[in-house]
Amino acid sequence: MNKKFETIILAAGKGTRMNSKTPKVLHKVGGKPMLQHVIDAAKRSGSSREVVIVGEGAELVTQSITGVEFVLQKEQLGTAHAVLCAKENFVASDGNVLILCGDTPLLTTTLLKNFTAAHEDSDCAATVLTAYMPDPTGYGRVVRKENGDFKEIVEHKDASADEREICEVNAGCYCFDVQKLFGALDKVTNNNAQGEYYLPEVLTILKSAGEKICVFKADYAEETLGINSRVQLSAADKSMRMRKERELMESGVTIEDPNSTYIDVEVEIGQDTIIKPNTFLEGNTKIGSDCVIGPNVRFENMIVGNNVKAQFSYCHDATIDNDVTLGPYVHVRPGTRISDRVKVGNFVEIKNSNIGKGSKLPHLQYVGDADVGENVNLGCGVVTCNYDGKNKYRTKIGDNAFIGCNTNLVAPVTVESGAYIAAGSTITKDVPKDNLAIARSRQTNIPNWNDKRK
Ligand code: UD1
Ligand code: CA
Repeated sequence: MNKKFETIILAAGKGTRMNSKTPKVLHKVGGKPMLQHVIDAAKRSGSSREVVIVGEGAELVTQSITGVEFVLQKEQLGTAHAVLCAKENFVASDGNVLILCGDTPLLTTTLLKNFTAAHEDSDCAATVLTAYMPDPTGYGRVVRKENGDFKEIVEHKDASADEREICEVNAGCYCFDVQKLFGALDKVTNNNAQGEYYLPEVLTILKSAGEKICVFKADYAEETLGINSRVQLSAADKSMRMRKERELMESGVTIEDPNSTYIDVEVEIGQDTIIKPNTFLEGNTKIGSDCVIGPNVRFENMIVGNNVKAQFSYCHDATIDNDVTLGPYVHVRPGTRISDRVKVGNFVEIKNSNIGKGSKLPHLQYVGDADVGENVNLGCGVVTCNYDGKNKYRTKIGDNAFIGCNTNLVAPVTVESGAYIAAGSTITKDVPKDNLAIARSRQTNIPNWNDKRK
């Protein structure tokens, strides 16, 4: 069993190599900011408190992330200095503190649990997480003594040619006895190639003071990838998505072509749903069971029930209940709720509207700011005229109403239940229950007109 521990997450760095206006730790992997991944992994592995060190773009970071404490590092003088900024926050702490970097989004809960447990079970003042990287460029190298014990960490820029050959790297993740850490942190110097206060130096300092330093090597190096550039960002994104798709497939979701499917990490999908190629499931989308989604569907923050079939469509910030058929070529916009058994067909746009159970919108409709009842039939080309250039108005259609083809419903307007509207009508007045409304000029046939013309 893991004991509770506190966590410090370093997220103040410039991220110079990203070449971005956005702080590095807010760049997304699998649709979620890197920093949020690290925070979530810490929380899930038993962290009782997370203190995040912010600096570069601090305002943006503190706005985007919730449920943690923030400490400002005004100047980015290095990773040791970043931790030192939190000293005041840990005067009352005892036990162990986990230190993570905000740019290692692939850390898993299993790895962090094993890592913190190994430290817990040892008599070491500090344990450092390491990994074997075939290309260790950029990482701090782990130098061991001949007997295999930890000697020191040498940063890439400070390393000799021989040290650069070492493929065991510092993952930037540590467990410390919290009081021993802060006791030694003041002694770190910036006498190195980058003129920075390096956190790994604290390991050497503790060691010289007679403390034991443990090394914990991760089984899967990929989980410790540090993201410093956009090339590494895209590699991490790919790994994260593959991990997510594997999880979903293991839980009973069919993904026909994982390579052309993009599913954000927070998305939930029920059993026996089939995801067809070229499908994008983003944000907080939740999909029920027995659905067929795709090909070519983009769902963003969608709540979708069971047995829904959707193809070639874009839907965002809306709710779709059960047994609904959607597409091809449907755009469902925010604030929409589509109830059970509704059929939405070719080239239909629905915005900020409620569509009642069993209603049909089979082709070429625009429905905006409308409340459509149950079992309503909207003919081809029905348009809600919801906007007069200044304000938006609602259209109400009662249960079992039948709206003929090419009808304009000029809002605000109500069509009561059971009413019929003749094709081609422009409806500007309410239609009472069970009435037939015809709002078009009568047809005149002029006999022999063509003969006269000749
Ligand atoms: C760091 C480690 C290196 C390790 C690598 C793992 C040091 C000196 N080096 O190098 O041994 O192999 O991580 O990924 O620690 N940060 C601050 N304040 C600062 C500087 C950095 O909060 O003043 C934060 C950054 O936002 C980042 C983390 O600390 O999240 C690591 O900083 P970064 O500059 O990426 O260090 P690396 O060069 O990758
Ligand atoms: Ca880094």
